[in-house]
Amino acid sequence: MAGNVRVGLMGCGRIAQFFHLSILGSTPGVELTAVAEMDDTLRAQAQAAAPGAKAYSDYKDLLADDNVDAAVVCLPTGMHARAAVDAFEAGKHIYLEKPIGLTLEEAAQVIEAERTSGKSGMIGFNYRFHPLHQQLKSRIQSGEIGNVVAVRSAFCAAKRELPGWKQRRATGGGVLLDLGTHHADLARFLLDDDVVSVSAAVRQMNYEGDFGSMRMQLGSGLVWDGTFSSQASDTDTIEVLGDRGMLRLDRYAGSLERNESKPGAGLVKRGKRALTDAQGLIKRTVSDPGEPSFKGALTAWADALSKSSDMPAPLIDGARSLSVICAAEQSAEQGGASVDLRGLMSSVAGGAPTPAGAA
Ligand SMILES: NC(=O)c1ccc[n+]([C@@H]2O[C@H](COP(=O)([O-])OP(=O)(O)OC[C@H]3O[C@@H](n4cnc5c(N)ncnc54)[C@H](O)[C@@H]3O)[C@@H](O)[C@H]2O)c1
Repeated sequence: MAGNVRVGLMGCGRIAQFFHLSILGSTPGVELTAVAEMDDTLRAQAQAAAPGAKAYSDYKDLLADDNVDAAVVCLPTGMHARAAVDAFEAGKHIYLEKPIGLTLEEAAQVIEAERTSGKSGMIGFNYRFHPLHQQLKSRIQSGEIGNVVAVRSAFCAAKRELPGWKQRRATGGGVLLDLGTHHADLARFLLDDDVVSVSAAVRQMNYEGDFGSMRMQLGSGLVWDGTFSSQASDTDTIEVLGDRGMLRLDRYAGSLERNESKPGAGLVKRGKRALTDAQGLIKRTVSDPGEPSFKGALTAWADALSKSSDMPAPLIDGARSLSVICAAEQSAEQGGASVDLRGLMSSVAGGAPTPAGAA
């Protein structure tokens, strides 16, 4: 694509106001030419943040704008598939926030629309672009902790009043779909392996599916246990246990540490970790939102568009992650029985299992 990528932002709610608006307004090679937001107050805020952009109240009007080459979709999850198909049909490239849709049928429609449009789409798996996750991947690959034996993770959000659409699974709610989808993708990304079966439990505290745990088994036999909640405190940790040590990533603390197996070293390490955690928290709270992954992902997307190169997180990977979540939900309905994923992706074009690509 010659010149700047002219981008339209569809949906200027919570996450777009935190990240996408300012990132798209300041990324070299990107020109934010249009924004669309139904809510008058949020639209006015978006306009103030992007004074050069044309403002629309409905995303469909933005898609008719010839001054837009590519759309970033930050609409409620229940609208993702429809909006993505509309964007491809309007001849736009897309960056689609996760998850790709509510069901695998929706995912298949998005991927088919991409194929017939000849345009490109990327799924918003921004944590692939987080420096800590990239370091974790290369440290696993270097053999630093030996053979990986198991993984344990938790991704939880602090209790808050959720928007209506996030309160019910049918419109995009539930923590497996909202948060689990990231760790299902990271399992493939970090370990270069596919999830082959899953068993899960889902529970309601305040909103439908606001607690979930899932055990993902990978092709190698390795098991990843994940806990997800929107009723806890902000937590995002991944512990990778190897036969020569353990690596622990704590995204909010900004730390990636290897635990020591030497006698007595644990105490010193714990003291140092407490200090690092406190410093990370202060940095996150005081100086900046402390979340570099959105900028990394959007920059990589714009770069791939301008070079006409392959997308670093293709839409098919959104479908793969969604297949894990759909299988987990099926398992929960069956009282936690293991559900085999092989075959689930056959309904999605190009969905045969392949090793996860690098970012
Ligand atoms: N990658 C991540 O880590 C991450 C983090 C948070 C949210 N997200 C995803 O981003 C999406 C948005 O989440 P959010 O928390 O910002 O939700 P939100 O409800 O705050 O924002 C969605 C916005 O879309 C607007 N909208 C609805 N219909 C519209 C239409 N027809 N035209 C224009 N605007 C319309 C709404 O008014 C709302 O402001 C979700 O799918 C969520 O999963 C991703």
